[in-house]
Formats: sequence, structure tokens, C-alpha cells
Amino acid sequence: MLSRLFRRFATTCPPAGRELGLLREHEDIAKRHARVHAAWAPHLAESRKTILETAGRCPQRRRALVIGAGDCLDVPVAGLAKLFGEIVLADIVTSAEVRRWEKKLRGRVCGVNWDASGALATLAAVRETVTAGEAPEIFARADPGPPPGGEADFIVSANCISQLGLVPGHSLPAQAKDKALPERCAKAAAKRHLDWLKARPGVRLLLADAARFDLSPDGKQLKKETLHERFGLPKPDRTWRWNLAPIPEWSPDFHRVHDVGAWVFQPTAP
Ligand SMILES: C[S@@+](CC[C@H](N)C(=O)[O-])C[C@H]1O[C@@H](n2cnc3c(N)ncnc32)[C@H](O)[C@@H]1O
Repeated sequence: MLSRLFRRFATTCPPAGRELGLLREHEDIAKRHARVHAAWAPHLAESRKTILETAGRCPQRRRALVIGAGDCLDVPVAGLAKLFGEIVLADIVTSAEVRRWEKKLRGRVCGVNWDASGALATLAAVRETVTAGEAPEIFARADPGPPPGGEADFIVSANCISQLGLVPGHSLPAQAKDKALPERCAKAAAKRHLDWLKARPGVRLLLADAARFDLSPDGKQLKKETLHERFGLPKPDRTWRWNLAPIPEWSPDFHRVHDVGAWVFQPTAP
């Protein structure tokens, strides 16, 4: 109880992020992790390993930027600090865990409340009246601006791309009459994020959902959806399983499982 209160007190999120449901989503992720941490452990370990392996291939090591740092569950902060002079942990929500890393590695780690979509302030200002046609356009045209802390030698987009438009899309009143609106916001925000990422000069690692499965209690595949193609992404460089929501977390009838993909974008030669 006390630790939950401390977490809440130490967590910061700008008003637009709160109004569009991102603080609540952050808290829900933390609660789910507390319930099913054993099921998530192999995925989190694989994410951290992939981040460090890719970081080790960076020719320059002044600054690393993690987008969607959250509670740093999948982010090897100590390992990155051994390789890079400065680590920027960016998220619309800055968590108590990020504040802890800032204190532990003072001057080397910096937490920043940063909107990777560039759309949240604009969208929050028109939340009540925005139409289902206008909202995805706001994501498509948004400009996140330069990376927080300046250009980085290594950027990790840490399992956040599918959330950028989806969570705010669900918070819009216009969604009541158009159930497909969150999905269209998700697509527009993800495309914008990819274009932004591709325009950066350093090594970039995208960690994102590649496919979603529903599995029966005895492990039979009931449903499969490929996710990365929606965002115009090729096949990932590698994938692994994430037991996101074991029975009864999502449904009493099936386990919800993801294939997580890793895509590495190398700098193009000058
Ligand atoms: C699935 S979580 C990623 C988990 C996180 N890497 C961890 O280890 O705890 C997605 C993260 O994306 C963040 N996020 C969602 N929308 C964002 C936005 N517009 N700008 C920056 N971060 C955002 C959420 O706050 C959340 O922390």
C-alpha cells in the first residue's frame, strides 16, 4: 500500500497524457506485471539481451535514448550505462523506477516526459469534439520534434509503437460511434513513429509486437493475427514469445500470447 502510494507520488505525466488515458495505462501495465511477472520474465530477459547485443554494435557511444522506457522492465539500464556516456529514458509517463535510476547513476541517466507521437497536446485540446476522420490525421501530421537530449548514437523504441495511437484513440468520445477509430489512430501514429525513427542518424532498434495468438488451455492455436505488416514493416530480424496474458488474465478460455519482433536500422553510409 505504502509502496503503491510512493510510486504514484513519484510518477509524473503531463495533463494531455492523463486526459488521453496514458497514466492509467502505465499503472495497468505495472499491475499486470505484478500479477503475471513469472510469465513475462523470459520476454523481458530476451528484450534486455537484444538491446545490449545491438548496443554493443554501435560504433559511437556518447548517448543512448530509450523511447517508452516505462518502468524499465525490458530496459537494461545498468548495462547501457557501461557502454554509453549518457542514457536518456523517455516516456510520456516518468516512473518512480526511472527516478531511482537517475539517483543511482547521477549525471549519467536522465528521465524525460516526452511525447513520442507529437500529437497528444493537439489531440487533448480537441478531445471532446474531434471527429473520427480528424483524429488519425492529427497523428499522421504530428511532429515529435528532435529527440529529447539531442541526437543519440543508439535509439531503442521499447515495445511502445503499438500504444502510441491506440490508447489515446480509446479515450476519444468519437470512438463510441466508430469502434475502428483506435485502430486507425494506432496505424497513423505507428507510421509516423517509424518515419521519425528512420530519419535519425544512429543505430536504431525497434522492439514491437509482430503477431498475436490466442491459445487454448492445452496450447492449441485458436487465432493468429500478424501485426507488423499493418505498419508497413518487413519481417523482423528476430522474434520471441511473450506470454502476455495467461488464463484467466484476459479471458478464462484462452492464453493471449505475442510474438515480439526486433528490427535493427543501421545508419546509412554518408
Ligand atoms: C508496453 S509499455 C513498454 C514497457 C516499458 N519499456 C517497460 O519496460 O516498462 C509502453 C510504454 O509506452 C509509453 N507510451 C505510450 N504512449 C507514449 C507516447 N506518446 N510517448 C512516449 N511514450 C509513450 C507508455 O507510457 C508505456 O510506458
